[in-house]
Amino acid sequence: MQDVTNKWFMKVIAHYGSPDYFFTEYFRVNDTSRLNRNILAAITENDTGRPVFAQMIGESIPDLVRTAKELCKYNIAGVDLNMGCPAPRIYRKNVGGGLLREPEKVDQILGELRAAVNDKPLTVKMRVGFENTDNFYSILDIINRHNIDLLSLHGRTVKDMYHGVVKYDLIAEAVKRVDCPVLANGNINSAKTALEVLSQTGAAGVMVGRWAIGNPWLFNQIRQAWRGEEITVVPLAEVRNYIDRLWQTPTASTIPERSRVAYLKMFLNYIALSVDTEGDFLRLMRRVQTEGEMFNLCDRFLLTEGTKTLALAPSLKV
Ligand SMILES: Cc1cc2nc3c(=O)[nH]c(=O)nc-3n(C[C@H](O)[C@H](O)[C@H](O)COP(=O)(O)O)c2cc1C
Repeated sequence: MQDVTNKWFMKVIAHYGSPDYFFTEYFRVNDTSRLNRNILAAITENDTGRPVFAQMIGESIPDLVRTAKELCKYNIAGVDLNMGCPAPRIYRKNVGGGLLREPEKVDQILGELRAAVNDKPLTVKMRVGFENTDNFYSILDIINRHNIDLLSLHGRTVKDMYHGVVKYDLIAEAVKRVDCPVLANGNINSAKTALEVLSQTGAAGVMVGRWAIGNPWLFNQIRQAWRGEEITVVPLAEVRNYIDRLWQTPTASTIPERSRVAYLKMFLNYIALSVDTEGDFLRLMRRVQTEGEMFNLCDRFLLTEGTKTLALAPSLKV
């Protein structure tokens, strides 16, 4: 996730139990692009013990091929192409989710990338369509034609952004249609949901986005549920420790307090409703300005009621 899945966040997640694979933030690809050093660090300094896929976003075929070849020189699990980003400033350039409007272009890109990435997996992350699902099946067939190794499928259209119903039925259709494994993505907010979605879709696995921020224990909880074990509940005092970890980034001493508070708020947006389903923590958190105010508020909500635990299947309103 852009601005989230950097090497530091991956390390924090690994502390609580990594997923089987990570995906980097996307490397922007165009005629002047070079590999972004910060994103690259998530690969070269990955100390999670788990493999990481390098994601690219772009539409210029020679530059995608050039970048994919460069990325293959690093210790990556594979090269992933982003065909899902819904930000208008992105899709208007016909990259990310914008590509879903042009199956012929997708065909060309995947053909050339497949020829270039021959000794590592080549994978695709996409949505079920741009504003409707008219191109869904033709793009799935293109994925088969170019022997894509893994498809991560977010069951919404680009125009749905991050809201509304996730079409798990279409993910199930993709599982039947494509030759490669499919990861089901969208609102996997609890271990229970993960198991239900796996059963409903027949997917090979689930991909977790925002809920990894809200509940970094989720990967272990999913494994526990998969093994039929009881799911460990998380006392709010442990969430307080997690927030501390997010606060103590290695570069913290060089960053102004305001920026650090803003950075932490970005994470707390996803954590707050799991802490307090009434929404008071979220509302008050958004108002604080200083480190002192922030941690007083955290202490009030996280340390005063010793028996409270993190919600297991929260909702998200950000
Ligand atoms: C802040 C943020 C950044 C994201 N950045 C990326 C990205 O760089 N590449 C990508 O494939 N998906 C990205 N996504 C989308 C997620 O990977 C995922 O598909 C989407 O959030 C739905 O899954 P979820 O309900 O588990 O969050 C991003 C999502 C968010 C909220």
